[in-house]
Amino acid sequence: MKLKSLRYFSGIAVLASAAAHAQSDYPAKMITMIVPFSAGGPTDTVARLVAQSMSTTLKQQVIIENVGGAGGTIGAARVAKAAPDGYTIFLHHIGQSTAPALYRKLTYDAIDSFEPVGLITDVPMTFVTRKDFPAKDFKELLSYVKANAAKVTYANAGVGSASHLCGMLFMSAINTDLTTVPYKGTGPAMNDLLGGQVDFMCDQTTNTTSQIKGGKIKVYGVTTKTRVPSQPDVPTLNEAGLAGFEIAVWHGMYAPKGTPKPVIATLSGALQKALKDPNVKQRFADLGTEPVPENRATPDALRAHLKAEIDKWEPVIKKAGVFTD
Ligand code: MLT
Repeated sequence: MKLKSLRYFSGIAVLASAAAHAQSDYPAKMITMIVPFSAGGPTDTVARLVAQSMSTTLKQQVIIENVGGAGGTIGAARVAKAAPDGYTIFLHHIGQSTAPALYRKLTYDAIDSFEPVGLITDVPMTFVTRKDFPAKDFKELLSYVKANAAKVTYANAGVGSASHLCGMLFMSAINTDLTTVPYKGTGPAMNDLLGGQVDFMCDQTTNTTSQIKGGKIKVYGVTTKTRVPSQPDVPTLNEAGLAGFEIAVWHGMYAPKGTPKPVIATLSGALQKALKDPNVKQRFADLGTEPVPENRATPDALRAHLKAEIDKWEPVIKKAGVFTD
């Protein structure tokens, strides 16, 4: 064999063994988990609980970096461009499946720019208002909102967020447009709701439960088929008079496209262990949710669910006529 081709093939061999070594001792350093919303909100809450458990399993710190804005698409774009080495991972929710229909100029593909790691949890949403909102139940809230549509303000985390999706479905259901106030996450939105600067929002129990139980905001209904065990007195919207209004915010974990399979397997194993962690399970229960069963916390389950959700929401969003450039 000529010396040149020998050098070529020995170079390939060196690169291949370096890649294999990098994968075999993964993780060899800290991992960054991108959360596409502000700190202190529901997505951040789920991420920090999962990251803490994964840090223990992986024996490396999994740190959270909040990259908010544009309903989660700025964070998603950041991950899509990150090095596929397992040291940047992503935790996002239902917004990963609605962005393709809502944004005409995404800089990434919601499926092909990522490697799925696994599903995490489905979180109920609650309709909540500032403490002094003039409605004692959901029926009165509906009447007030319809009669005062021009002045009622609805907070969300930007086009593509779960709070935006819930608000969009709500406004379609009652055939009433409201003034929406976008934030980089419902963490900061909650601060304005507590301060009375905004009237109401539809947000996840992982962000509203403690404020509801503390009497600092009012709750009118949950968006799930059945009541939430941690708040048994709160009616479902179906019971409260908005028949068929159901939405739960599923969450998944991803890595950039091209992340090696052995690295994805290590991450998936650590995620599955986190979802069995007694502390994670208890905190999820306190916040109105629970981990998905083991057979859903897998790359294939997330890949299939994401595709199904993109197909589900596309016609709904097109019919609502909501999109952004
Ligand atoms: C949303 O989609 O509304 C987000 O979950 C808000 C957040 O996590 O801050």
